[in-house]
Parts: sequence; C-alpha cells; structure tokens
Amino acid sequence: MNDTINPLIQNKEHDETRQGEAVSLKGKVEKKAKNCYVESYGCALNFNDSEIVATLLNQEGYGITTDFKEADLILINTCSIREHAEQKVRERLRIFTSVKKNKPSALIGVLGCMAERLKEDLLEQEKMVDLIVGPDGYRSLPELLKEAEAGHKAVNVLLSREETYADISPTRLATNGVNGFVTIMRGCNNMCSFCVVPFTRGRERSRDAFSIVAECKQLFDEGFRDITLLGQNVDSYHWKNETENSEVNFAQLLEMVALIHPDLRVRFSSSHPKDITDDVLFTMLKYENICKQIHLPLQSGNSRILEKMNRTYDREWYMAKYDRIMELIPECAVTTDIIIGFCSETEEEHQDSLSMIDYCRFEFGYYFKYSERGGTPAQKKFDDDVPEEVKQRRLDEIIAKARHYSLIRNKEAIGKIYKVLVEGPSHRKPETEWNGRNTQNQMVIFPKKNVQKGQYINVLINDASAGTLFGEIVD
Ligand code: SAH
Ligand code: SF4
Ligand code: F3S
Repeated sequence: MNDTINPLIQNKEHDETRQGEAVSLKGKVEKKAKNCYVESYGCALNFNDSEIVATLLNQEGYGITTDFKEADLILINTCSIREHAEQKVRERLRIFTSVKKNKPSALIGVLGCMAERLKEDLLEQEKMVDLIVGPDGYRSLPELLKEAEAGHKAVNVLLSREETYADISPTRLATNGVNGFVTIMRGCNNMCSFCVVPFTRGRERSRDAFSIVAECKQLFDEGFRDITLLGQNVDSYHWKNETENSEVNFAQLLEMVALIHPDLRVRFSSSHPKDITDDVLFTMLKYENICKQIHLPLQSGNSRILEKMNRTYDREWYMAKYDRIMELIPECAVTTDIIIGFCSETEEEHQDSLSMIDYCRFEFGYYFKYSERGGTPAQKKFDDDVPEEVKQRRLDEIIAKARHYSLIRNKEAIGKIYKVLVEGPSHRKPETEWNGRNTQNQMVIFPKKNVQKGQYINVLINDASAGTLFGEIVD
C-alpha cells in the first residue's frame, strides 16, 4: 500500500484528505472476460472491505481492471465521515457515468458508508447508478448483479448484527507485500455526537479470533511483516467462542497474533481513551514485535466540548491515560485525531486543544474541521455555529503547533539506531534510496545497499524533517 491509502495511521499529510483519498485497486488478479474497476475512499476498514468485494466478484467470474473505461462493472466504495468525502464521490460518479455513453451495458455501483447513509435517495440523486450496497450487504452482490443486469435498480442496505466476513479471504490489491491490514471487528457502539459511523456501519461485532490469526498467519507466509489490526474501537474487541465456552479480549487477541512469529510486527488502530486497558499496555511490553505506537484520538482538549461530543472522558482522563502509557512504555509514539470548531467551541476551548498538543507532544496527528453530518446527534441537537474562517484559522494554529512537535520529536531521533522494517524504494529517489519504518511507525529513508523488502535492518539516524527520518544502515 502506498502512504495515502493507510488512512488510520500512515498518511503523513496534515490535511483533511485522510478519509477522502481515492485509490483504484491494482493487483495480481488478472483480467477476465468480465472485469470490474474498484475505487475506494475512507478509512482502512473500507479499503479492506473492497478487498473482500474483490474476492466475492472473483468467485462470480470477474477480473480486476485498473481502467474504468474498459470495465463492465464500476464500483466506488464510499465514505461519509465528512462532507468533503461525499462531494469527491459525486464528482467521480459524474465521470464514471459518462462511460455509459460508449458502453451502455456497463454497470455502476455505490458501496460503503455513503450507500448506507443515503440508501434509495442516492438513486434519485444519481440517476445513472445501478447498484447500492451497504457495508453488510456484500455477500448478496451476485444476486444484486443479476438484478442490475436485468435492468432493475438493485439495493441492499440492510445492516447486520452478525456479519464479519470472517470466512472470506480478502484479495490483496493495492499492496506493497509488506504492510497488511486485517479487520478484527465491524461497526461501533459508541455514539460520539459528531460521528456518522454508528449509522453507516451499524452495531459493533467482533470477528472470530481464530479466523483473524489464520489470516495474519497467511499474510506472514506470503511475506507480509507488518500487520495492522483494524477496528473503530479495538479495545472493545470481545469474541465469545461458543464451542469452547471461552472468550477472547483485545489484549489476548494481540498476544495470539504476536505469537505467530517474532518477525511479524503487529500494530492496531484505533484505540479509544475510555477503553484502552493496562492489560493491552502490558501485552505491548511483553512482546517486542507489538509495535510501540498507539493511535489515541483526543477529538478535543476541552472537557465541556468532550462532553458535548459524548466521548465519555474528559481532559484529565485523557492526560492520565497518556501519562500511564508514558510511564509503562516511555518509547511509545502516541498519535491522535482532533476535531476543530465543533459546535459552540470558544476561543478558550480551542486553546485547550492547543495546550493538549503541548502536553502530549503527539508524534503525529490528523486534524479536521468539524463537518456536520445529517442524522447525527450533534446535527439534531446543536448548531454548527463556528464560522468557516474561524475553523480554518484554528485548524492552521493546530497544524502549526503539531508540526512544531513532530519536528522536535524527529530531531530527537538523530544519533539513535532503530530497527527498521524495509518496505521498498523511496518515492523520491527509488534508484538509490529505500524506505522503511521503525516500531514507532516513523518513516525512515536510507541509501539502498544490499537489502531486501521485508528485511529488518539497523539504521543510524543522521537527519530529520517533520515527517521523515534520514539515516544509514549500520550492522
Ligand atoms: N473510531 C475512531 C475514529 C473514526 S473516524 C475513534 O473513535 O477514534 C476518524 C476521525 O474522523 C475521528 O477520530 C474524528 O476525528 C474525525 N471525524 C469523525 N466525524 C467527523 C466530523 N463530523 N467532522 C470532522 N471530523 C470527523
Ligand atoms: Fe465514531 Fe466515536 Fe465510534 Fe469512533 S468511537 S467510530 S468517533 S462513534
Ligand atoms: Fe468513512 Fe465509513 Fe470509514 S464513514 S471513515 S469509510 S467507516
């Protein structure tokens, strides 16, 4: 995967595009008589879903094409998290539907969170769309495709309490063969007032722990060395094994995956400040291959705003969690998400978010202007009353401070030696420079020498920018 499509953790851009980047899926799947083009938006969970869809379509005889103009089926897997993400999708749909002029038999389908949020209304708004399938409806794609081929509009936006696609092995498409992503749970039971996810993804459910371990093991056998376990709130992972009458929590799952092989790095995203436990931190300590990195979204540094957001923790709670992480795992990188300009946020409350950046010196963060989403508790109860220019100015202030600390932290790495997993040639100088990551997930660039993708090397850091460390391989 390249940087822009690992939205939960790996996009080093301080901007709003994290959940709006599009990536068309490229991969090993050959073309066939019928071919499908898939473009994905949103979080890593959505990208993973596209890979499940690719497997299901493959079973139906579809190959994958990277050129939508020659596709028999164009699918766009969508995100609703912010208005901007939905606008992007509508622009793309306009381009895709123009293909139908030359190829009237081509079908166009909208998958994912926007399909779930808008349901049949989307058919009214986007007349050329043939299929609408929500995140829990992908198993019905074969039947829906038959309906659509027969000229009917096909819709499945039913949410499920059980569906985890546990038995479907995702077709790895946009991948570098080193970094793998495995969905461990679906949906979300929290009701953060700003957030559309509980409406688009439904109730939280945890996937069979053994199917997760089997998928990770398979990835390891295929050469993957860095796996991120994905969920909206991984700390509330909880799977009941009915046959053995036993249960697996997140700390136990982490251990099961870490035990696959010491050369397999394990990461996870996202953690919720109210739910992350000491158990998880101790498990991280126990295994060298569980990466020392926690994505701990703050959302706001002000307790009144956090309460309005229904985050169920306050400023002091977050600070205490942060302190506990630092106490147990001092080398741990903590990254975050912050929403700027939430309903009624005052200048002083914004200062509280800034001062939390001073306190936590986040390694990295994603910063978003609040975007009101229809149907959410915040949209129903509060006014989106912070003017756009104020949101923008506050965002700029947050980003400036965050960059300042990213740079300081990266400069502190100069002179240190890190164990780095080699990911491949760098983007800027692919001939001579390679890149990889350390346990903290910092990007490290170094002159190539004799190394292979997927290998661990030691790198002495000799320079740093806010987003990248530079060094040379040492023995
Ligand atoms: N489950 C994760 C977050 C998933 S959404 C968690 O609870 O931490 C990713 C991020 O998008 C959120 O952390 C939040 O910062 C941002 N976000 C969600 N809804 C938003 C909205 N309406 N406007 C702006 N940003 C939003
Ligand atoms: Fe949204 Fe909150 Fe659930 Fe995260 S925890 S997905 S922000 S409702
Ligand atoms: Fe977007 Fe849905 Fe993920 S709204 S962030 S694609 S869960």
